[in-house]
Amino acid sequence: MSKNFDVVVIGAGPGGYVAAIRAAQLGLSVACIDDWKNEKGGPAPGGTCTNVGCIPSKALLQSSEYFDHAGHAFADHGIEMKSLSLNLKAMLARKNTVVKQNNDGILYLFKKNKVTFFHGRGAFAKPEGEGHTVRITGATEETVIARHVIIATGSVPRALPDTPFDEKLVLSNTGALAMSEVPKRLGIIGAGVIGLEMGSVWRRLGAEVKILEALPALLGAADTQVATEAGKLFAKQGLDIELGVKIGAITVGKQDVTIHYSDSKGTTQKAQFDRLIVSIGRVPNTNGLNTQEVGLKLDDRGFIAVDDHCKTNLPNVWAVGDVVRGPMLAHKSEEEGVAVAERIAGQHGHVNFNTIPWVIYTSPEIAWVGKTEQQLKEAKVEYKTGTFPFLANGRARALGDTTGFVKFIADARSDEILGVHIIGPTASELISEAVVAMEFRASSEDIARICHAHPSLSEAVKEAALAVDKRALNF
Ligand code: FAD
Ligand code: NAI
Repeated sequence: MSKNFDVVVIGAGPGGYVAAIRAAQLGLSVACIDDWKNEKGGPAPGGTCTNVGCIPSKALLQSSEYFDHAGHAFADHGIEMKSLSLNLKAMLARKNTVVKQNNDGILYLFKKNKVTFFHGRGAFAKPEGEGHTVRITGATEETVIARHVIIATGSVPRALPDTPFDEKLVLSNTGALAMSEVPKRLGIIGAGVIGLEMGSVWRRLGAEVKILEALPALLGAADTQVATEAGKLFAKQGLDIELGVKIGAITVGKQDVTIHYSDSKGTTQKAQFDRLIVSIGRVPNTNGLNTQEVGLKLDDRGFIAVDDHCKTNLPNVWAVGDVVRGPMLAHKSEEEGVAVAERIAGQHGHVNFNTIPWVIYTSPEIAWVGKTEQQLKEAKVEYKTGTFPFLANGRARALGDTTGFVKFIADARSDEILGVHIIGPTASELISEAVVAMEFRASSEDIARICHAHPSLSEAVKEAALAVDKRALNF
C-alpha cells in the first residue's frame, strides 16, 4: 500500500529540507526524499550545501585562514610562534565532523517536526489514483502519493566538454574540498566564487595557484570598485589570476594535467599542474526524475520552468532552489522553499529577489546587496555614493585588518538605498544591516541616524551612509 502525504519534497538540500520543515510546521503531513550518502552509505541530508558546498568550504576557509594568520599576522599582535606545521589530515577530519554535525542536525529537525524522511532516489511514476505518485528506489524502496510535490533536486558541477571530472587530478568542488595533500601547482579554470574560495584555501596552505578565467574582467557581477580592489588584494596574496583566456587542449597524464590556452593577447600558452579544479558554473539537476514521462516542462537551459511563485506547468508540482532560475545560493533556495510551503498551506509566501545578498568568503570577504554602479548607469538611474574605508575604523585597526571599504549607493532624489557593497572584515555579517534596510526601503539618511556600537566594524556601515551626504565623521 502506498503512503499518502500532503507534501512530498524531493531533495533535502537547503531548499528541500527547509520547505519540508515549514510545511510540517503549518500542519501538513510531509515526506522528504534525499539520496545523498555518507561514507558509510547512510543518509546525509543537507544537499550540496552541507556536504560539498557552503559548510565544508567555510570550514576549510576558516582553518586555512588560521594557518595563514599563524604564519604571519599573529606576529603583529606580539604572538611569536617558534614553529608551525600543517596537519592536513586533522584539518580535513574537522571539516568532515562539521559536515556530519549538520547532517545529524537536519535528521533531528525532521524528527522534531514529524517529517518522514526517505533515504533514496525519488522519481515521478505513473499516477496511482489522485495526486502525484513518486517512486523511491535505492536505500529505500517505497511508493508515495502526494497531494503536492516540491522538487528541490539542486545542481551539479559543469564539466569541460572533453575533460570529465575524475576527482583525482581533475576536480569538481567535491575533490577540491578533499585533497589529501597540498598540491605544489594547483590550476583552476574559472575565477568565479568557487575558484576564488578554493584558490584561497589551497594558496594559504602553500600551493602555487593559477586561475584561468575566460572573461576579460574579474567578478563581473560585483561593483567595479569592489572587483578592482579585490583583484589587487588577491594578487598580493599570491593568487595568479589570468583573465581573458581561451582554454584549448587539456591532457590528463598520470601525475599531472597540461593545459594549452590562448592568453588575452591571443598568444598560445601552456601550463602544467599537479591538480586542476574546474569551477565554470553549475547545471540544474533533473537527472532520473522522469520529467519527460509526466510532461514536466524544462526551460531552454535545462532548469525546471517555473512562474514567479515557483509553480511548474503541472498542477500542484512546485520547484525551488538551484534547479530553477535565479541565483544558485543556499539562502535563495531556503526562501523559495519556505514561500512554497506557505503557499501550499494557503498563505502568501514571497521572495524578494532585489534583496538577496551575495557573499564571497575570500579574505577579505566580499558582500553586496542590490544594484551596482554599472547596473544603475546602464539603467540611467541617477544616484549618489558614499564610501568609507576600514582603515579609518578603530575596531578594524584593533583587529589588525583594515583592508577594504563599505560603499553605499542611494537614489539621487529620494535617497532610497539602491545597493550596498562591502569588501573587508566580516562583510558577510555586515551586509545583513543593508539587507534589512533595503527590505524596509530605508534611505541612507535612516542608517546614518541610527546609533551603532563603538568600537565596531558596523560603524563603517554608518559612516558610509553618512558619506552619501558628504558628512562622514571619521574620514
Ligand atoms: P542542493 O543543495 O543541491 O540539494 C539537492 C539535494 O537533492 C541533494 O542532496 C541531491 O543529492 C538530492 N537529489 C537530487 N535528485 C534527487 C532525487 N531524484 N531523489 C532524491 N534526492 C535527490 N551558497 C551560499 O549561499 N553560500 C555559500 O557559501 C555557498 N558555498 C558554496 C560552495 C561550493 C563549493 C558550492 C558547490 C556551492 C556553494 N553554494 C553556496 C551554493 C549552494 O550550495 C546551493 O545554492 C544550494 O546547495 C542549493 O540548494 P538546493 O536545495 O537547491 O540543492
Ligand atoms: P561561477 O558562475 O561563480 O563562476 C564561473 C566562472 O568560470 C565565471 O567567471 C566564468 O566566466 C568562468 N568560465 C566559464 N567557462 C569558462 C571556461 N571555459 N574557461 C575559463 N573560464 C570559464 O561558478 P562557480 O564558481 O562554479 O560556482 C557555481 C555557483 O555556486 C556560483 O555561481 C554560486 O551561485 C554558488 N556558490 C556560491 C558561493 C557563495 O555564495 N559564497 C560559494 C561557491 C559557490
